[in-house]
Amino acid sequence: MSHMDGLPEGRQPVLRLPATPQNTNAGGDIFGGWLMAQVDIAGSIPAVLRAEGRVVTAAVRSMSFLKPVRVGDLVSLYAEVIKVGRSSLQVAVEVWVQRRAPVLEALRVAEAELVYVAIDDAGRPRPVPPAGT
Ligand SMILES: CC(C)(COP(=O)(O)OP(=O)(O)OC[C@H]1O[C@@H](n2cnc3c(N)ncnc32)[C@H](O)[C@@H]1OP(=O)(O)O)[C@@H](O)C(=O)NCCC(=O)NCCS
Repeated sequence: MSHMDGLPEGRQPVLRLPATPQNTNAGGDIFGGWLMAQVDIAGSIPAVLRAEGRVVTAAVRSMSFLKPVRVGDLVSLYAEVIKVGRSSLQVAVEVWVQRRAPVLEALRVAEAELVYVAIDDAGRPRPVPPAGT
């Protein structure tokens, strides 16, 4: 995709998908809970890569819905680890949509911060390995 698409330059979304009619609320826009699920999935991607294995979501520190998401929007989720503790990882997620209205526009629609915890096979917290190993 070209840099003229309105999305943040120089960053790659971890997840992209269309907003479809089965995920609407009574008002006809996309249900916030659907977006929260996508945010959780997106946030887990850099967390799993950095933790080099399984993680669980420990907390959703914040989630702000900035603009409604509409059916037909192409949703792009950006996520990055912003802080690493012993076994926890704080992840920032930004959600953008691209929409033809009727010209293509890109809108930042939500932002969130989540905490994931690296776990072992027994589901107990395990240390996050040092970066770049
Ligand atoms: C997350 C979980 C593994 C933490 O286990 P725990 O025994 O409480 O772990 P600890 O108290 O030793 O904390 C481990 C780390 O998690 C962090 N943590 C635990 N609960 C947290 C919370 N609610 N918010 C932020 N961080 C949290 C601690 O700060 C600690 O971080 P550090 O290792 O970087 O210092 C456990 O609570 C759990 O399994 N929760 C359910 C997770 C889940 O199923 N999520 C999906 C829900 S559908």
